[in-house]
Amino acid sequence: MTQKRDRWGTLGFIFAASGSAIGLGNIVFFSANAYKYGAGAFYIPYLVAFFVLGIPIMILELGLGNKMQRAFPESLSRCAGKPGEFVGWWGLLSASFITMYYITILGWALGMWVGSFGGLWAHPGTVAAFKDAGKMAFSQAFFYHMISGKGVLIYVPIIWLLNVLIVWRGAKSIEEAVSIFVPLMWIMMIILILRGLTLPNGIQGVYRLFTPDFKIIFSDFSVWHGAFSQMFFTLSLGFGIMTAYASYLPKTSDQTNNALMVCSMNCGFEFIAGIAIFSLLFAFAIVPAGGTLSMTFWTIPRGIVQFPFWHRVFGVLFFTLLLMAGLSSSVSLFEAIISAVIDKFGASRKKVILIFAVLGCLGSFIFALPTVIDPKLDGCGTLGLTLLDMIDHWSFGQGLLIVGFFECIIVGWFYGAKKIREYVNHHSNLHLGVWFDIIIKFVAPIMILVVLVFGNLKDFKSATVYGSSYISGHAWVAGAALGIWLFATCAGAAVLTLSKTYEYEGEERRGGEPDAEGKSNDE
Ligand code: TRP
Repeated sequence: MTQKRDRWGTLGFIFAASGSAIGLGNIVFFSANAYKYGAGAFYIPYLVAFFVLGIPIMILELGLGNKMQRAFPESLSRCAGKPGEFVGWWGLLSASFITMYYITILGWALGMWVGSFGGLWAHPGTVAAFKDAGKMAFSQAFFYHMISGKGVLIYVPIIWLLNVLIVWRGAKSIEEAVSIFVPLMWIMMIILILRGLTLPNGIQGVYRLFTPDFKIIFSDFSVWHGAFSQMFFTLSLGFGIMTAYASYLPKTSDQTNNALMVCSMNCGFEFIAGIAIFSLLFAFAIVPAGGTLSMTFWTIPRGIVQFPFWHRVFGVLFFTLLLMAGLSSSVSLFEAIISAVIDKFGASRKKVILIFAVLGCLGSFIFALPTVIDPKLDGCGTLGLTLLDMIDHWSFGQGLLIVGFFECIIVGWFYGAKKIREYVNHHSNLHLGVWFDIIIKFVAPIMILVVLVFGNLKDFKSATVYGSSYISGHAWVAGAALGIWLFATCAGAAVLTLSKTYEYEGEERRGGEPDAEGKSNDE
């Protein structure tokens, strides 16, 4: 079978890649993390991560996918054989956990979106069943009520269905969706930031966000850990999403330019969102509860309801933005997994999509399980949330950086950073210097390693080691979760790596051969 690879239209790639990058990570996780790590202490490590990790690794992932014309595991396999492929699959399996809970969160966002037309703003009388309902903010009460009701059984499959529809025809249908979503997202974000900044005292929040706090920056490695993980997550790096997307670009396209555009659009959006959210927090003197989810679902609605006019309109706008940004990101996670399986087994696209959507939807339900309500209702709430916190801790906090580390080692040392640089330079106006090789081979992996080790040391000493303070009293549960996560991802990756790779014939395959240098068979 000869495989004809999908191709993006002119702006398709930029829309799709920036749509993947701009997501929940930009709109809420950035602000929540910045707040958690002391606002002004966060953005300097973040900027360091942007230049030292974000841009170079984006160029690496795009260059790799474009050169090999294959998804992540197959591309890494062409760099370093089976061990490379194993890393690729391991990354994608971690990505599949993120996909499942990311979609659960989007299902909740859909529930809140429905609520934002009316019910969300009402008094929490409906949740009297909970012990402390009276003490909760209306948004928190609505959230608990929504996640423990039957609505989730509809919201989560709706989000999965939308994902299936968007990836159904590959690059073509993704492109159609993102070229509507991405421009709309920018417009909505600009409206929200104008609203935030014109609130009385809103600007104080911006000062707080951007006044550097050097004491923390130099004494606390967990800030760096947080900033590095955030950078990988927000740019959709580490799990080969960008590699899959770049494999749908012709070999003549300019990857340095693409990387710079996607990185700057993403981080620009993130800063704007940070400004909007911090101005809202300060205008209404709201102290967020700390977590990323509470920021999304409780804190922000508490601010919006205090707007002098049109709080419903702004509420609907906020959750619409969240849904669009989230969908254009979740489809990229989904597509990365699907394209890797198709490349490996030569399977039919539609079959793979359907099988994975059903499995994924079941997984998302598990993350949404509202069975065990935290009796005090002060922590994470449900088993679903606790599980979500733990998996988030491993896949987001550790998995991304671990894959990022191995990615640099495999491409930098086994394949040769120089080869990727020369390939990228061949089609690019802006030429990368030797500094690129130095960053990929030494600077990035060393920084990631240091941050992983020292950032975690602090966690291990504190009670939050398991990613959830609620579970920290139940060490065995956390230990079991870690064990299951490690076993599932490693065993799965080993099985996938050892299964037989489908042999494609024709020029696409030759075009991706590592020694082809991309010169003789450029499109
Ligand atoms: N970048 C997205 C966000 O900011 C999330 C995301 C999409 C992602 N694809 C990814 C994160 C791949 C890690 C890896 O919300």
